[in-house]
Amino acid sequence: MRKEEQIRVIKGLMSHLDNGTNVDAGGQVRNPVTSYIDREIAADEWREFFQDYPQVLGMTGDLPEAGSFFTSSDLGKPILCTRDKDGQFHAFLNVCSHRGTVVESDARGRKTVFSCPFHAWSYSPRGDLINVPREEHFGPVDKNCHGLVALPSEEKYGLLFVHPNPEGTLDVDNLLGDLADEFDSWGFDVFGFQDTTRYDHAMNWKLAIDTFGETYHFEVLHKNTLAADLYGNVQMYDTYKRNHRMNLCLRNIDTLRDRPEEEWEIMKAAVPVYYIFPNIQLIPGAGGPTLVRVYPDFDNPHNSHSQISFYLHPGIKELALNPEQRARYLEIEERMQGFAEVIRDEDYVAAAASHQGAVSGAFEYFTFGRNEPALHHYHNTYREALGMPPLERISN
Ligand code: FES
Ligand SMILES: [Fe+2]
Repeated sequence: MRKEEQIRVIKGLMSHLDNGTNVDAGGQVRNPVTSYIDREIAADEWREFFQDYPQVLGMTGDLPEAGSFFTSSDLGKPILCTRDKDGQFHAFLNVCSHRGTVVESDARGRKTVFSCPFHAWSYSPRGDLINVPREEHFGPVDKNCHGLVALPSEEKYGLLFVHPNPEGTLDVDNLLGDLADEFDSWGFDVFGFQDTTRYDHAMNWKLAIDTFGETYHFEVLHKNTLAADLYGNVQMYDTYKRNHRMNLCLRNIDTLRDRPEEEWEIMKAAVPVYYIFPNIQLIPGAGGPTLVRVYPDFDNPHNSHSQISFYLHPGIKELALNPEQRARYLEIEERMQGFAEVIRDEDYVAAAASHQGAVSGAFEYFTFGRNEPALHHYHNTYREALGMPPLERISN
């Protein structure tokens, strides 16, 4: 985040604290519960947002060196992401051109050749078919036409973007709008992959996204955890095309009040939380960013899962090797894990209970308050993308 923007955000948070105010969406809206349980909406979302819309599948640190790879099946199709010997990022359908077997089944690693487990046709990290065993018996194969199917892919601002449709187009800067410059300022490409964890949840995927969309719940749901470090119901909020950024307010912000503005740093005052449409939360942290990816269970509105990945600054990783500084490293690692546990044990538990409430038929609508603008923006954004009318305003 550029310095002047850091100052603007910090001043805004201080102003809310001083005046007992919060960000204001200008009114309440109501969201039909069918949004979370309707099978047609779920099928439209799956098709439009997860089969035919650019995805963030990881960060630069997921592919640390030439030959690095990882695989994904979150989009209902096997995908292989690689870094070739020149450092170039690629994504492919992880499907053998012989008889369709999944070529690489390891989650991640380093390889210079990907060999299909069925008959050992093998592919390079650039997706080229490089060997067909016993071709003299099999018959000739035109290797130029039997490589892995490439997916549009782009590595930018430390993020790995992939379009799940081989015919799709990818324009990262157009997707991000003004967030592009802000992401550039973070230098996300230096952080190394640390760990990833998957949570399966019996709820609509949008309820998982919603839990990141307000701080109104902090002093209730997180009273014994996050509320120790964060003020509840205080945030700054900005939108960038279909994406948005929240800034949660650290209690530590008060230590900046008697310091000159040149010394103010956003990470001492706030936790920025970026949302990238349709399913990404990216949260810079003290040791490195956390990337949360939320996926529906195909077109089933009632199940979803989250992939939560942690990245660490190389300097922090080095602490682990030094016996005197290892305690600091462990503290940062524990903090990251603790954050994921709060999501799993508090946010997602409450969200899954909301899903039961939606299914119960008790109410036709859920209400989004004036202090929850991210929920207004996010729901209106996907509704617009699906050709649905905006949420109904119920009060000013
Ligand atoms: S299916 Fe891959 S080599 Fe036969
Ligand atoms: Fe929360």
